Amino acid sequence: MAPARQAVQCGPAPARRQLRARLNVVACNHSKMGQNPRRWPVRAAPACYDWRPFAHRWRPLLAMRNARTSARPLPPAISSHAVSSFASVEQVPGDPILGLTEAYNHDTRPGKVNLGVGIYYDESGRIPLLKAVAKVEDALAREGKPRGYLPIDGLPAYTQATRELLFGKDSPLLKDGRVATTQTVGGSGALRVGAETLRKLLPHATLALSKPSWENHRAVFEAAGYEVGEYTYFDAVTHGVDFAGMLADLKALKPKTVVLLHACCHNPTGADLTVEQWKEVAQVLKDGDLFPFIDMAYQGFDKGIAEDAAAIQVVVEAGITDFVVASSYSKSFSLYGERVGALSIVAATAEQAKAVQSHVKRIIRTIYSSPSNHGAALVAGVLTDPALRGEWELELTAMRERIHALRAGLVQKLAEAGAGDFSFISQQAGMFSYSGLTKAQVDRLREEHAIYAVGSGRICVAALNQGNLDRVAAAIAAVVKG
Ligand code: LMR
Repeated sequence: MAPARQAVQCGPAPARRQLRARLNVVACNHSKMGQNPRRWPVRAAPACYDWRPFAHRWRPLLAMRNARTSARPLPPAISSHAVSSFASVEQVPGDPILGLTEAYNHDTRPGKVNLGVGIYYDESGRIPLLKAVAKVEDALAREGKPRGYLPIDGLPAYTQATRELLFGKDSPLLKDGRVATTQTVGGSGALRVGAETLRKLLPHATLALSKPSWENHRAVFEAAGYEVGEYTYFDAVTHGVDFAGMLADLKALKPKTVVLLHACCHNPTGADLTVEQWKEVAQVLKDGDLFPFIDMAYQGFDKGIAEDAAAIQVVVEAGITDFVVASSYSKSFSLYGERVGALSIVAATAEQAKAVQSHVKRIIRTIYSSPSNHGAALVAGVLTDPALRGEWELELTAMRERIHALRAGLVQKLAEAGAGDFSFISQQAGMFSYSGLTKAQVDRLREEHAIYAVGSGRICVAALNQGNLDRVAAAIAAVVKG
């Protein structure tokens, strides 16, 4: 049956004409009369044909015409009243450490100093490219190797060299195959992958952090699903470790609690345990069936490569069979942006270590698949070549000794500037000092003096040099005096 002749008015003009012809309908003249059919009250609306049911007919015609003339795009098929998916997203606060660097980079004031992030700067205020690293980099560039995928657990030469650096080349653990080391995306990657792994294998465990700890520790472990608690660590009066409080809190933890420990150069306080204290802590960990998760981001930045790994040896000697070490070469190789870290899991047997690592690999595969090559190749190139390794150790020693000198220099300059007795800074270890500055004083340092520090009062001593020391000391003295 032929369709009744009806009015077609509301479709797009170029398509309307063709559609009218095909449907055997006539045009209505509402728009010519300046009348908008959509505004007609329902009962008063003329018999104007609703074009929408015919969209499947006129849209292709219009598309053909647009294709010919590059004219207007198709009108949206769906109502334009849809709400944006991100309309109600609120901004979260910036990162307390890396966010500071963003603010610092935007600061145009001359003489600004960034004591926020943990980066070692040389005397000219630059991040050093270590000579041993540069030599490997040159050799790699000349070689021009193809860039295949690394295995999920990383470059074998890198993981082997890392194991030896952390546990000692002659460690019985290595001989027995009890350490499964995996290359990770920086020390943070090691923490997160380690956290995810333990969460899977010890699902009921909670985590205990030192009070205070690195700003990101809590966030990393909470993101992996942990309930995070704290154990006493820092004594604000002595600026050292509240050791009695620490032992008491560790003894009160439930068996299998994962205890995050800083092997050396405690971040943020700079307050470390002595070897004797480590022995007592290890005994408490063993007696309480607690699980040590050792974070070792600054090996070689306090006393030396082997000396700074004493905590690992002590834990092994205490007979603790299962534990984790997260480590990083950001600082010791000055390879911050190359993201070279490692996760080493120690198990009671080689079979168990292998089984645990199979979970590590599965987790990595679902996050970033496999690590990147360059930084690991640099580290492996240095550590596996005796001459380059010797050169690196000298460079590391120079960085370490310079930090010690900067600590002494800051203490002296602060005293000269009338800031008071900051001699505790010389007792602290590594890059950081928990300066005792309040949040308000840190804010004044930034706002009035363009000197950036973490809100907790943590300052990175390794960012000082002879060119900024006076200025920093004078500014601290000014804010301390009120
Ligand atoms: C720091 O503590 O400043 C460094 O470990 C860098 C970082 O990622 O926070």
